[in-house]
Amino acid sequence: MSATLFDQVEALMAEIGKAQPSSADELEQFRIRFLGSKNILKPLFGEIKQIEPARKKEYGQLVNRAKEEAEAKYAEWQAVFAREKRQSAYAGMDLTAPGEPRPLGSRHPVSLVMQEMIAIFGRIGFSVADDREIEDDWHNFTAMNTPEDHPARDMQDTFYVVDAPGMLLRTHTSSVQARVMTSRKPPIRIIAPGRVYRNETISARSHCQFHQIEGLYIDEGVSFADLKQTLLHFVREFYGKDRKIRLRPSYFPFTEPSAEMDVYMGLETEKDRRITKGTGWLEVLGCGMVDPAVLHNCGIDPERYTGYAFGIGIERTAMLRYNIEDIRLMFENDIRFLRQFDAVV
Ligand code: PHE
Repeated sequence: MSATLFDQVEALMAEIGKAQPSSADELEQFRIRFLGSKNILKPLFGEIKQIEPARKKEYGQLVNRAKEEAEAKYAEWQAVFAREKRQSAYAGMDLTAPGEPRPLGSRHPVSLVMQEMIAIFGRIGFSVADDREIEDDWHNFTAMNTPEDHPARDMQDTFYVVDAPGMLLRTHTSSVQARVMTSRKPPIRIIAPGRVYRNETISARSHCQFHQIEGLYIDEGVSFADLKQTLLHFVREFYGKDRKIRLRPSYFPFTEPSAEMDVYMGLETEKDRRITKGTGWLEVLGCGMVDPAVLHNCGIDPERYTGYAFGIGIERTAMLRYNIEDIRLMFENDIRFLRQFDAVV
């Protein structure tokens, strides 16, 4: 009895050894016979109970070896047929032909400047807050202390969404201040980069769409000194380590006190004189202490918390950095313009 079982396994091993499938179909037949779910070796494993005790181990090892040989054979032939299949796919192709070059794209100057600013503020703990460009009147104006009849609304010519009362294209990223304050608890330390829209006549100097980076910091005991020092740090990282800044009193409905910040560019070159209108100072952002009314509107206790905010225009900064004379170039997708930035990363 056991002699026959041994013989059966030996015979199958011989068959496995000799097998030479000539096609993928034949290989599949082989797989089904020796490795499939109802393969021929399976019952032979069960037959071990028939074997006399002294030879059980020997028998078990033999059947296992048969299975391993079937697996090895299958793997070997599978590789052969896979290679043949790949080669037939290349038939007729010139594998020595040079590849087609794929030019890398370039980063837009607006993105370059934004990324750099995000990195600078990121290093001092500001995280990015992203929000919608199509806003409602409340987040863009009312929450920011600019109610319906407020004269400051005239400062910003707004695009309203047709047939959607109260909806508009945000006129500044300050709307994200309201979004963040109404959805998070202090401490809040964010920057909000993004696109904004104003109904302005398009010219070399101004456009109806542009980008800003908003900054907002709210916690207990935040002071104007914190604002000034943060802005100075930013300027020295972005414009150079010896830069001076000055803050001039200004007005925004959502900050009190408000200021505009200038960076000293000097008067050495013709360009310095031109961009600073002969003063040496260049205006780069608006800022101030968050008006308590804004905190109150957004559900933050102004008795407990204070904060500062600032808003930086991106296009003007990028134009300065890369000597771009006309803001319209930023939005025309002219490949000759964009390609000039492909070495900048
Ligand atoms: N939102 C202002 C603007 O668009 C800039 C600003 C932001 C001023 C935050 C003060 C504080 O011009």
